[in-house]
Amino acid sequence: MANTGPDVIEELEDFQKARYEDRDAAPAKAKDEYRNYEAEARPTVREFYRLNHQGQTFDFVQAKKAEYLPKSRAAMSIWGAMEFLNTLVDDSDPDTDLTQIEHLLQTAEAIRADGHPRWFILTGLIHDLGKILCLWGEPQWAVVGDTFPVGCAYSDKVVFPEFFALNPDSRSPAYQTSCGIYEPHGGLDRVHLSWGHDEYLYQVVKDHLPDESLYMIRYHSFYAAHREGAYAHLMSDRDREMFRWVRAFNPYDLYSKTPARPDVARLRPFYEDLIAEYFPPTLRW
Ligand SMILES: [Fe+2]
Ligand SMILES: [Fe+2]
Repeated sequence: MANTGPDVIEELEDFQKARYEDRDAAPAKAKDEYRNYEAEARPTVREFYRLNHQGQTFDFVQAKKAEYLPKSRAAMSIWGAMEFLNTLVDDSDPDTDLTQIEHLLQTAEAIRADGHPRWFILTGLIHDLGKILCLWGEPQWAVVGDTFPVGCAYSDKVVFPEFFALNPDSRSPAYQTSCGIYEPHGGLDRVHLSWGHDEYLYQVVKDHLPDESLYMIRYHSFYAAHREGAYAHLMSDRDREMFRWVRAFNPYDLYSKTPARPDVARLRPFYEDLIAEYFPPTLRW
């Protein structure tokens, strides 16, 4: 199961959480007072980012967009996609680990409990549905993990920046100026990020949700920008304003996992109504 199971996905999410947990708990500390999570990362996490930074070239991203943006793989409802994602079988302990649907419901329920608008709750419910890319046979390094722009210089604020030396684009001068092929402050909509579940789901749902929600979906893994402030020179004023929402979403993504299993059958009617408010019965994937 090493290639399709969520075992590495779990470890990555634990790593992302650990990376920001003490900073969020004690934001006043100087940066070097925090633990160095990259140095302590598990070998599986390091290896994941090595493959990711090496493989996510500009051409790879274009090829994946050409393959997936026609959305000709399936016609499915949102709940159908949740059930499909649930078939991503775990090889770890089924008694203690949450299913994918349970994880999505926990995120949505945490947002709901804080009294946020219905579109925000719905965003929590669906934000990781793009992980069905794993079920279409994509390697994990092309589905999850932090995203970053391709076609311009890499920021050292991206996790494990040393692995970018393995990316063939690092030897392409046109891609290694600070803006690369992009205009300064030209807006993220024109910037190609590394391929993964964020962009894929954005492309599937973009006609149906408010912009705030679409920003959360499209950029939730772009930690270098929303947590570290990198790549500001590519962002428009609009991006800067909307990233407030990406940051508002991030704690729910990082911290809403609890061992308590949500009651899927009890919650389903509420969420089916919410889905129907925004989405047609089927979407193209
Ligand atoms: Fe995600
Ligand atoms: Fe998530």
